[in-house]
Amino acid sequence: GRRCLSQQPKRSVAQYLQWKPAEKVDDVVVDGYVRSVRSMKAHRFVSLGDGSSLAPLQALIPIDQAEGVAVGAAVRFTGSWTASPGGSQSHELHVAKVEVLGPSDPKTFPIQKKYQTPEYLRTMPHLRPRTPVNAALLRLRSDAIASLTQFFANRAFTQTHPPIITSSDCEGAGEVFTLAPASEPDMAAGSGGAKEQFFRSKKYLSVSTQLHLEALAQSVGNVWTLSPVFRAEQSDTARHLSEFYMLEAELTFVDDLSDVMNLAEDMLRFLGTSLFETATVQGLLSRSGQLGSVLAAPEVVRRRWEGLMQPSWPRITYSDAVDLLQQESDLFSLKPAWGAGLQSEHEKFLAEHVGGGQSPVFVTNYPRDIKAFYMRGEYPITSNANATVECFDLLVPELCEIAGGSMREHRLTPLLDAMKRQGMAGDKPSNDDDLESAAGNLDWYVDLRRWGCPPHGGFGVGFDRLLSYLSGVQTVRDIVAFPRWHGRCDC
Ligand code: 4AD
Ligand code: MG
Repeated sequence: GRRCLSQQPKRSVAQYLQWKPAEKVDDVVVDGYVRSVRSMKAHRFVSLGDGSSLAPLQALIPIDQAEGVAVGAAVRFTGSWTASPGGSQSHELHVAKVEVLGPSDPKTFPIQKKYQTPEYLRTMPHLRPRTPVNAALLRLRSDAIASLTQFFANRAFTQTHPPIITSSDCEGAGEVFTLAPASEPDMAAGSGGAKEQFFRSKKYLSVSTQLHLEALAQSVGNVWTLSPVFRAEQSDTARHLSEFYMLEAELTFVDDLSDVMNLAEDMLRFLGTSLFETATVQGLLSRSGQLGSVLAAPEVVRRRWEGLMQPSWPRITYSDAVDLLQQESDLFSLKPAWGAGLQSEHEKFLAEHVGGGQSPVFVTNYPRDIKAFYMRGEYPITSNANATVECFDLLVPELCEIAGGSMREHRLTPLLDAMKRQGMAGDKPSNDDDLESAAGNLDWYVDLRRWGCPPHGGFGVGFDRLLSYLSGVQTVRDIVAFPRWHGRCDC
């Protein structure tokens, strides 16, 4: 049974469910996994899934053919695709021939048709995608990547692959993972020396590809990437992963932050518009609210998609946002103050109230001292007290920040000044033996400012946060197939 001998083309379960011939069609073949088996007098009633749709295909098997057709088994059924007037679906498969291609012991198979908690499923990431909802989330991710690729191709952006092993901490937040081969002596134990390091000096996993994207944008023009990035954050929240995908775009020869925000907004609106009507999204919407705490309520998820499709999302400066928050100061356990970062309770309030909960909200021009060194600001600096930089965070209801971006400091002297202010080495090679000076290995980044650096800017979207927002999945740990977060990296 290795070849498909049927005259009929093999379809996926999703394709079968769309196929409604008036006459019965013989000799059709379907491959899939047995989700459930119900015994009847002369038949077994089998639900078959293959990860292509939330709904299973219904198959009727004569009892003498049903050996080995057990929950979890990989099977190939050959039979007739037949109208089933009384059934829950318009057609069902009357099976003539069963091939068990991968047997399963239904007593020990951990994925059951009944409700299983997200915590339980998270303990077996290798089997979790066999559940219909988790398979749908994988399809959503794939569809989203296709849509975004289309968006950037329409605008003639070049897709690039910046490196994952880097010599600096782009965000300067000290959340980098340090890289070392297994054979390398443990530096902390004092046994080795810098000479023995594989790359001769410390290297890190990338926290953002932005700095490299800037270099690429200076050669081919506008660029984008969807890249894994890594952050050693100890945050134990529904929004933080140690390994996640960031979608980053860099626009060159632009001088205005609104050009960068327009691009982020257009991109997300395109994504919303192109995916909302798809079977995967509509299927997830129909399932939301029914799965305990896995998915948010359908009206919440629908509002998120509608918000994404809204024209002109509100934009508010950080200073105006702080004024607004201070008027509602009683609502917050941490009082809003100019110069401090926005807490998630503040971001939630802004996302709900500035946009009326109808669309995402841009908060712009944060204080210079709480943002990364590369953001462009007024120069020379006239007042330290209220200096801001040309940047934005994009906030959505419930989930808060899903994207951040800025104009980049493209002038040499202001950039060097900013690096000095942030305690980073300036324009000469630095000793990178310790983490504090990680951001010092940026001579090459400074170099870009020496020869033909036009005004430019870009943004990064937390891709997993975006997908969990749009699917209604309550935590990023359930949107990623193999999630890693502080304390957990299972398989
Ligand atoms: O705001 P961030 O730190 O911005 C940057 O890294 C810029 N260099 C991007 C750029 O301008 N090209 O990260 C961007 C987004 C955040 O808004 C958030 O959505 C997501 O990445 N993010 C995380 N997602 C999941 N787990 C984490 N630990 C995350 N940290 C940030
Ligand atoms: Mg940010």
